[in-house]
Amino acid sequence: MNDRPEADWDPASGAVQNDQLAAYDAMRERGPLAYSDFLGWSLFRHADVVRVLNNDHIFSNAVSRHLSVPNGMDPPEHTGYRRLVEGYFGPKRMDAFEPQCRDIATSLVRSVSRRNEVEFISAFAESFAVRVQCAFLGWPPEMHELLRRWTQNNRAATLAQDRAAMAQIAAEFEGFVDGLLRSRRVSGAPACDDIIASLLQERLAGQPLRDDVIASILRNWTVGEVGTISTSVGILVHHISGHVDLQQQLRAQPSLLPAAIDEILRIHGPLVTNRRITTCPVSIGGRTLDAGERISLNWIAANRDGRVFADPDVFRLDRNPAVNLLYGAGIHVCPGAALARMEMRVVMEELLERTTSFQMIADKPPTNAVYPGSGFATLPLYLR
Ligand code: HEM
Repeated sequence: MNDRPEADWDPASGAVQNDQLAAYDAMRERGPLAYSDFLGWSLFRHADVVRVLNNDHIFSNAVSRHLSVPNGMDPPEHTGYRRLVEGYFGPKRMDAFEPQCRDIATSLVRSVSRRNEVEFISAFAESFAVRVQCAFLGWPPEMHELLRRWTQNNRAATLAQDRAAMAQIAAEFEGFVDGLLRSRRVSGAPACDDIIASLLQERLAGQPLRDDVIASILRNWTVGEVGTISTSVGILVHHISGHVDLQQQLRAQPSLLPAAIDEILRIHGPLVTNRRITTCPVSIGGRTLDAGERISLNWIAANRDGRVFADPDVFRLDRNPAVNLLYGAGIHVCPGAALARMEMRVVMEELLERTTSFQMIADKPPTNAVYPGSGFATLPLYLR
């Protein structure tokens, strides 16, 4: 491997964190590839990101020595686990879960709409995400606060690149799951038909799943769900608070919500990066990278690339959905997309149906979230 190159940018700097969208747009226009000690090589342009996604044999997901099922795996190992995971997000399960998800959304809308002025992220978006995740997994309400705190600690450790803290946070999650598995295995434990019970029944190549595999699957769902859904709900509500015409249009025609949600989240992505590692020397972004180089795919920059999306900041419902990278592409494309889409449609339907307006507060502007989060850390609103 070559000596480390000079850093082209510092993704953890205040300048980037203050306005991630503007910083990633600027980096994409400066060049296709940039090096930083923090993230390795970052790719910003849509065409380069798609090339990586479609060449998983050159750009491997085995970026960490820690078990990550199925995110950190390549074929053929990835294939069996991936098939297993997909089984949990089929249309039947989504339809069965929708009423529970709607009840959670309705009760939260009721609780905040009585308050007039609300800090939307902590009072609504985070609570919605942890409650739906616990309901989906069949976990008790005591887990709400634990999951919220766990997600915040996980993000803080990622930003600090504190490997010891990240390992400890992964172990803490394994501890939650171990407790649940133990309680299922005591003789005389009541029979359950929730997701843990299903995972305990699964067989891969004739073998049951190991406990650490079950914990890893659930950890990746929780990371996918809790952080990304709360961020997305904040971005959606922020966007339509600032675009009153669109807000009125969606109130009048809620059937537009699925396409509108995907387009708003293209303009302002909830997820910043995912990682890959090169398996052989490869030319990309105008450079030849050795085998073993770390690559970070910048979803936000790629989905705002004017080479693919004319006037990328403009909300348009007639764009080609096939090129929107919100849920990725290729063999690692998000298996939870159907769940995420259902949850966001339901929560937006309930918010629009049960209120008459969302409006930002002139002297209390929102504050931006920092990497690895996106969207807003706080979003004060008048909700009527
Ligand atoms: C708005 C919400 C969400 C967004 C924007 C999102 C986005 C993504 C993206 C871009 C990828 C591809 C990562 C890569 O190529 O490295 C991905 C993968 C994944 N997502 Fe999501 N996701 C969301 C919600 C969820 C939910 C709700 C779950 C599960 C409950 C989930 C579970 C996963 C898993 C397990 C993978 C890895 C799949 C694999 O490696 O085969 N995500 N997601």
